[in-house]
This record gives sequence, structure tokens and C-alpha cells, in this order.
Amino acid sequence: IRFDKRVAIVTGAGGGLGREHALLLGRRGAKVVVNDLGGAVDGSGSGQTMADQVVEEIRAAGGEAIANYDSVTTPEGGEAIVKAALDAFGSVDIVINNAGILRDKSFPKLTNEELESVLGVHLRGAFHVSQPAFREMKEREYGRLVFTTSNAGLFGNFGQTNYGAAKAGLVGLSNVLAIEGMKYNIKSNVIAPMAKSRMTEALLGSLGDVLDPALVSPMVAYLAWEQCAVTHEVFSAGAGRYARVFIGLAPGWVAPRGAVPEPEAIAEHLEQIRATEGFFIPGSSGEEIEILMGQLKE
Ligand code: NAI
Repeated sequence: IRFDKRVAIVTGAGGGLGREHALLLGRRGAKVVVNDLGGAVDGSGSGQTMADQVVEEIRAAGGEAIANYDSVTTPEGGEAIVKAALDAFGSVDIVINNAGILRDKSFPKLTNEELESVLGVHLRGAFHVSQPAFREMKEREYGRLVFTTSNAGLFGNFGQTNYGAAKAGLVGLSNVLAIEGMKYNIKSNVIAPMAKSRMTEALLGSLGDVLDPALVSPMVAYLAWEQCAVTHEVFSAGAGRYARVFIGLAPGWVAPRGAVPEPEAIAEHLEQIRATEGFFIPGSSGEEIEILMGQLKE
């Protein structure tokens, strides 16, 4: 699996997971834009050292890379990151949306600033970088997008309403881009990593020993590969386990036609409504409707 002649943007690549993704893509021949604002875990501050160091590491291993210090949080920042790729290397083939911050707080105490800053980096940041990149990809009929969600968004975690909502939002973004990108050979997938990084080391304690961030990057590289046929999917990756996560639609209960069921009928059939056996995984909202129409004919 090689990325020769491919240009990859990795956001938040100055440390942690992003650094590992950038190093792996660089070792496999990609020209890498190492983007990092260089601030703290809570998003405060900025600096150039983090991105510069990763660029040095890629170059020392014989690869090609440039640093970029723009923040993903504004449309101008996103444009500048994509422009850096185009100016230095002439195209953008791969975008790994990885930049992130944490501002944890239980919901009653969450401030608007804590909400906005977290949505701004994770969710809006991914829009700002991916949109100008997608336009280029559409033009060239080639692209690989990877978004970074979290089990906090997919499954829930105390004190992370802002982060969980932003992370779950990225799954929605990727699902739609997978559909919009289909006829242009643009694939869009999501990873849900688990890794020891500056963001998680305090939370993980001794668990962190098995969560080397380098163990996440092979999944990202596969999804960024030219011959990857997978799109519209989500993968958990951590500690060497790689597993699909999916949103399934259960067969449910179909009420008798011709009358609106009483709420009591819902209570009566709750077990059947909640049962997960025989689930479907619709590939679009239209597919859900097709499945429903099929069930109505039964
Ligand atoms: P990290 O803190 O080492 O990496 C995040 C990077 O993003 C930092 O280098 C930071 O400087 C950069 N960044 C922050 N705001 C930015 C901005 N506005 N513009 C550009 N760069 C910015 O943490 P880690 O763990 O490597 O996180 C990477 C991604 O993985 C994040 O999106 C995080 O939410 C996600 N994630 C990590 C998990 C883990 O177990 N480590 C679990 C689930 C998700």
C-alpha cells in the first residue's frame, strides 16, 4: 500500500494520533501537509514547533512534507490549509480530519464558550477543511476523506455533551459526503480511535500502556488508499483491534394498516420495536424508505 504522488492533509498532526497518521503516510510516499495550530489540549495558545517537528521527522525518514499552522476553525483557515497543499504539491487527494480539543463539563455547568469552541474545532473545522478539498477532489474525480469521531459521541460519555455532539455530527457529515462523492471516486469514512495521547493520558491511567497511537494509523492509511473500495463506514481502532461500528435499522413492528395505533399498542409491541435481530444497514435515507415500502407490502 503506497501513496506515491498522492498529497495528504492531516489536521492536528503536530502530536498524538495525527502525528502517527502523518508519519505513516509520509513513509509510504505521500506528500504530507502537517497542519497544527500548536495550542494546548483545551484549544488555548498556538505555536509552530509541533508541526515543524513532525515535518522534520518525515523528512529525516526520506519523505516529503510541509508545515501549516492555520486553525481549522474558520473558513479562511480551511482554505489556507488546502491552498498550502495546492501551492506546495499541486493537488489534494487525501484529507485526514483529526484536529481536536477538549472542554469537558457536566451539562448543567457547560458554558456557551465551551460548546462553541469544541463544535468549532471538531465539527465546523472538518467542514472548513473538507469543503475546499472536496471541490478540488470533485474536479479531479479522486479523493479520500477520513473523519475522526469518538466513542464518546457514538456511545456516550459523562461530561462530554459538547464533544459527543460534535463527534457524532462528523458521522453525519461523512455519511452525506460518501453519497455526494460516490460518482467522483471520493470515499468518505470515519474512525473512532482509542489511544494514549496528551488528550487522554490522565483519563486512561495504566490502560494507556496498550493504547499506542501508532496502532490506529494502519486503519486510517487503508481508508486513504487508492484501492480502498469502502465508503460510508465507521471503524473503531485502538490497541490493535479494528472493528466496524454501524448504525442499524431494526425490522420493528408494523402496525395494522388503516388506523393510527394507540400509544398502548406501542407499549404492547415494545419488545418487537426494540429487538435488533435481522437489522438492516441503509446506505441512504432513500434506502430506509425502500426498506419500509418493502415491509408494508409483506
Ligand atoms: P492531541 O491533543 O494530541 O491531538 C490533537 C491535535 O489537534 C493537537 O496537536 C492540537 O494542537 C491540534 N489542534 C487543536 N485545535 C486545532 C485547530 N484549531 N487547528 C489545527 N489543529 C488543532 O490528541 P489526540 O488524542 O491525538 O486526538 C486526535 C483526534 O482523535 C481528536 O479529534 C480527538 O478528539 C480524537 N480522539 C482521540 C481519542 C483518543 O483516545 N486519543 C479518542 C477518540 C477521539
